Amino acid sequence: MFDLPAYDGHEKVTMVEDAETGLKAIIAVHSTAMGPAAGGCRLWSYDSDSAALVDALRLSKGMSYKNAMADLPMGGGKAVICGPVAPENRVRLFEAFGRAVDGLGGQYITAEDVGVSVADMEIIATQTRFVSGLAGSEGKSGGDPSPFTARGVRVGIESAVKAAMGRSDLDGVKVAVQGLGHVGMYLCEELASRGAQLVVADIHAGRVAEAQVRFGATAVHVDDILMQEVDIVAPCALGGAITENVAGHMRARIVAGAANNQLLTPEAGRILARRGILYAPDYVINAGGIIMVAGEISGNNAEAEVLAAVDRIGGRLDDIFTRAQSGEALTFEIADLMAQSKIRAARKLKAA
Ligand code: NAI
Repeated sequence: MFDLPAYDGHEKVTMVEDAETGLKAIIAVHSTAMGPAAGGCRLWSYDSDSAALVDALRLSKGMSYKNAMADLPMGGGKAVICGPVAPENRVRLFEAFGRAVDGLGGQYITAEDVGVSVADMEIIATQTRFVSGLAGSEGKSGGDPSPFTARGVRVGIESAVKAAMGRSDLDGVKVAVQGLGHVGMYLCEELASRGAQLVVADIHAGRVAEAQVRFGATAVHVDDILMQEVDIVAPCALGGAITENVAGHMRARIVAGAANNQLLTPEAGRILARRGILYAPDYVINAGGIIMVAGEISGNNAEAEVLAAVDRIGGRLDDIFTRAQSGEALTFEIADLMAQSKIRAARKLKAA
């Protein structure tokens, strides 16, 4: 593991295997410099155990950067569970996962990610208190973080549209949304209600049909969605969508979406920049969900305050875009440097 490019001095990586339930999981704690490592739990069928490890390493580092950039008192961590999971085994498996999280004594706090629901979090909560994303109550945010993520992405898209197109509204702006899952569908709702025109794709035909009916979206094949002649491409499926080839040929002016680790390589980001395509750093624009989760963890989760905190994503991106346009560095480089410097400062403070 120590030789993997995805390894970045992670504080702790725990391999979990539970023979009784068949649970195989990896919990990666990248950094606790700013607070307990918080980040979702992903359930995915990986091609290999090493692919799962690389995913956990990359995603947990991304969470450190995301939490730092959102000014949250939390470090970065992530868990991956190797699927598939038989439905009849789900409860026992998430109980076993909850015990593993509990065993870390609060170093890691879990929440939802791809493939995992509020109901799974409620099961985990029977075994540990180090869990969030539980159902909210009247006037308090909680539960599924994805509407908050989608709102943050919409605010970020508005910021990108201002920077790249000199416009302060989304009326008639064309957006290609890749992936109509939890976040993608809420994002379509946010965008359509502001007059944006949507082009969509998902591997599940039912999700596509829903977006067509609800938002008048145009459906295209999953292989074509990133190449649409639109203003914005919003990757909301899995990571690595922006390959060097995609970056070199895509026709949008802006890449701004919810997926983690959108750039397959830094070179893909450099190609976007060379072609004048504005890239909104993923972990800055998609922080809405973790901002909600942080409110839930701290108990400061009055909905109005959480929404105001999510909306501050726009200002952060305005700043990054302005600095990039002045030639300081590329957008994702600026975000990395800012996040690294915040984490370094917190580490120093902790050590003092
Ligand atoms: P989800 O699993 O609900 O949705 C993903 C959707 O993408 C599914 O509908 C799936 O069918 C579709 N999909 C998969 N491969 C595809 C392809 N090649 N082309 C088109 N569609 C494809 O996941 P969720 O929660 O909506 O998350 C989406 C992305 O946003 C993930 O990368 C996740 O890590 C990231 N994210 C999610 C947050 C949240 O609050 N749920 C927070 C921050 C990031």
